[in-house]
This record gives sequence, structure tokens and C-alpha cells, in this order.
Amino acid sequence: MSDAGNVENDGKSIKGIAVDPEVLSIIKNPDRPEAFPSIAKAPNNIPGVSGFIAGMKSLFAYKREGLQFFANQASIYGKVFRSQLGPYSIVGVTDHEVISQILKNGDRCWSTALAVERVTRGLSFDIDLKKKSRLMSLDFDAHRRMRNLVQPAFSDRALASYLTVIHHEFVHNIEAWPRDGAVSFRVEARKIFSQLAARLFFGIGDPKEAARLEGATRDYWGAIPVVLKNRHLSERWKRGVDGVATLSSIMYDLIPKRRDEGGVDLFSQLCKSRDDTGGLDDDQLVDLMLNIIFAAFDTTTMGITSMAYLLAKYPHWQEVLRAEAMRLPEQATLADFNGMERTTQVWKETLRMFPVSAITPRVSLGECQVGSYVAPPRTLVFNFTGLLGQDPDLWDHPQRFDPERFSSARAEHQRHRGQYLPFGHGVHTCVGAALANLEARVFWSIVLTRYRFSLAKDYDAVHCMSPLGSVSGEVALKVERL
Ligand code: HEM
Repeated sequence: MSDAGNVENDGKSIKGIAVDPEVLSIIKNPDRPEAFPSIAKAPNNIPGVSGFIAGMKSLFAYKREGLQFFANQASIYGKVFRSQLGPYSIVGVTDHEVISQILKNGDRCWSTALAVERVTRGLSFDIDLKKKSRLMSLDFDAHRRMRNLVQPAFSDRALASYLTVIHHEFVHNIEAWPRDGAVSFRVEARKIFSQLAARLFFGIGDPKEAARLEGATRDYWGAIPVVLKNRHLSERWKRGVDGVATLSSIMYDLIPKRRDEGGVDLFSQLCKSRDDTGGLDDDQLVDLMLNIIFAAFDTTTMGITSMAYLLAKYPHWQEVLRAEAMRLPEQATLADFNGMERTTQVWKETLRMFPVSAITPRVSLGECQVGSYVAPPRTLVFNFTGLLGQDPDLWDHPQRFDPERFSSARAEHQRHRGQYLPFGHGVHTCVGAALANLEARVFWSIVLTRYRFSLAKDYDAVHCMSPLGSVSGEVALKVERL
């Protein structure tokens, strides 16, 4: 794939080859795409469906069947297929090798920014494009620089400093569960994790302010699937834009205090992050943090909710994990939690069976290889990372709950390149993965040393996308204090 240096003087070609004019402006400046071209129609030589009617049908089918809808298309047309989701003409990929090649992006052919901006564009505040700092809205060198500035806030050192806050928030909430009674787990997990986000991300302890933050983030997220991105035509979009304004104003108000006094929260860590060229100014901090809360919102909650269902369904595993949690020392450290091997196996199995982030989109900057096909510039590719966990070519009995497939003795997840990507792959791999893993381990160590639980009413859950993935149903639990 060509880069800025390959654009010839006439401004219309790369090494003499005529290039899509809409994309040229991006190729000239691959680090900071400032133009957002329209999406090209997926090429007809790729087997599949497209067009208005297919798009409408798929919207309903996707709502009803979730990822299974695309799994069915892959079984008909192959692991690289043409499809349509509402207005989006897409190329779907379920092949692990092709997905890992695209996400690795060794040929610099794919843009994350163009894909993410397609859906989030407009959900922003007025920031000079040159200062843009949302990780997912940057590619290449600009992304690398920002990622280096963000990384220290997710280092082991930072995670160890967050541990007390995480532990305290979970204990405080879980201790309030009834001794013998019902817990609506999905609702409860949402509450607990949103309070934790306020405290951990911003150092906000006031429940009212935490609720304002949560409501605004929920509105922001709620606007993502909106097609009519206009505040006069869509109430949901209006709420999303207002949510972003509320979040921004909360953050701008916090900055002076966090810069002066610091604190044990992610925002304070980012305030002091520096590289050779300096740190982040106020606008960049807000833009970056908007991306982090967007990316973090509900993800761990969804995974935890699916794991609650599986642990309720398989009480033997509750006992296994309880025994491991009981062995933790009183003042458990980051290393102690990271050493929770059995809990980690169940968490990994949960994210395989019920993937949270199941689609990783990319847009081609030029003519790009997708398996044995060539996609034209501006093709929107959906990498279905969430379907990899169900592929019988990659896993033994994928429908079976079998956490030991992740044991070092079996290591089923390491048989094929790119077969298990719950946190993505390549330079945009989830920056918060270690934090999410830590939260899961701490959370279950606290629940399982205090409670035994079962489903209040047994049911067989399926994977649902809304738009993040998790088990279906409310996961109503009957809990009993140990
Ligand atoms: C179970 C929980 C989580 C899952 C399954 C998950 C999944 C993912 C995936 C698949 C990506 C890659 C997206 C892509 O390549 O386009 C990603 C990126 C990202 N995640 Fe997570 N995530 C989780 C939790 C978190 C948390 C807790 C945070 C922050 C506190 C976070 C922050 C981010 C950010 C900022 C990115 C963008 C990284 C970049 O573009 O460089 N995530 N996440």
C-alpha cells in the first residue's frame, strides 16, 4: 500500500496508477485522515448479497439473530462474503488468517479511523482536527504517538495503584446484596461498573455526579446505531450529541484540579503523561477520554454478566473458582490476582462463547487484498472476530463450555494464528484489556468468597448483540450468603 511519499506531483496518482480521488486526500496524509469518503459498494465478484432490500432485511434479521445472521451468510457464500447491513455495503470476513492479516495491517492498507468515524462522526465537540487524540480515530504515526502517551495509564504500575479503588467499590456494592434472595445481575453489574468507572476514570465519588456521567455516556453510546445523524430528525441522535456535551463539560471542569493535585484515577494519569514533544492539552485530554469511556462503556459489564450466567449454569466451576479465591492472601496484590489461573480460564471461555466486541471494522485506503479477492478503495470490511470462537475448524466442540481448553496443557486457543481475538489484534488492540481482566478477577474473587448462586429461573441463553455482545436475558440470580 502506498503512503504520502508515493503520491506524485499531479496529485491524482500513485506511482502512475490513478487512485480514487476521494481517498487521495487521505493517502496524502495517512496519519491524520481529515476527509471521510463515502463507502464504496462491495465488489460483485465477491459472493453474497447487496442492495436496498437486502439491507433492510439484514437490519431486522441482525436484530433478531445477532451474529448468527452473518454466520449463516458465511456458510452460504464462504468466509469472505459480500453483504449489506442497512445502508452499509460491506465485505464480511470470518476467516481467522484473513482477519489477522487485515488487523495487523502490515501493508498499511487499512484505516481504523475511517471505519470508526463513519459511525461516530458528529458525536464530538469542536476540536481542531490536528489535535484529535481519540485512539480509534487515528491511524499510523499519529496513532502510535497517542498510544504511547496513553499506555502508562494502563501499565502494571498504574493497575496496581487502581487496585484499592476497584476492590473497595466491588466490596461496598456486593456486601449490600441480600443474605438469601434475588439479584437482577445485569442491572446490578451495570450499576456497580458505572460507579466504578466514575471513580476509577475520573476520581468522582459523588453518586449523583456518577449517575450524570453514566447517563451521558449511555446517551452517547445509544446514538451510535442511528442512521439519521441529525438532531432535528432523531431524538436519539440529539441525546447522543447532548451526552457528549455533558461529558466534555464534566471533564473540562475537572482538568484544573486533576492537573494541580493529581489523584489515583486514569484521568489524572493522562494529565501527567508526556513524551519528547510534550503532553496533552485540555482539548486533547477531553477528546482522548471520550474515546476511552466510549470503548470501555459496558464492555466489562457485558462479559461479567455472561460469566455470571455460565457460573450459575455450571455450579461445579463456581466451586473451583471459589477455592482459588479463598487461597488469595488478605492483602492480595496485582500479581496474586493475575495468578488466578482457573478464573482466567473461565473468563477466557466466556469471551469465546459470548464475545463482547464481535465486529472489528476497517476501511480500505486503496486496492487491498481480502483473502483471494481484491477490494477497491473505500470498502468497508467487517472482521467478525466474534464468530471465530464458534468455528469448528478452530476449536474442539465449540458449543461446549470447557474452560480447560485454555489450560497450558491443552492451549487450544494457540493452535491457529488469530483464532482467538476478544480484544482485537494489531496496533489497535484493546488498550484496556489488562484492566478488564483485572476487574473480572477481582470481581469474582469478592462474589465467590461471599455468595453461592444459581439462576432464579433456569433458561438456555443465546448470544445477543445490543450493540455489544452478551448472554440473552436478565440473568436473575438466587443468591445465598456463605
Ligand atoms: C471485556 C472488556 C473489553 C473488550 C472485550 C474490549 C474489546 C476491544 C477490542 C476488540 C478493541 C479493538 C477495536 C479495533 O481494533 O477496532 C478495543 C479497543 C479499545 N479498547 Fe477495549 N475492550 C474491553 C474493555 C476496555 C476497557 C475497560 C477500556 C478502557 C478503560 C478499553 C479501551 C479501549 C480503547 C481506548 C481501545 C482503542 C485502542 C486503539 O485504537 O488503539 N477497553 N477493545
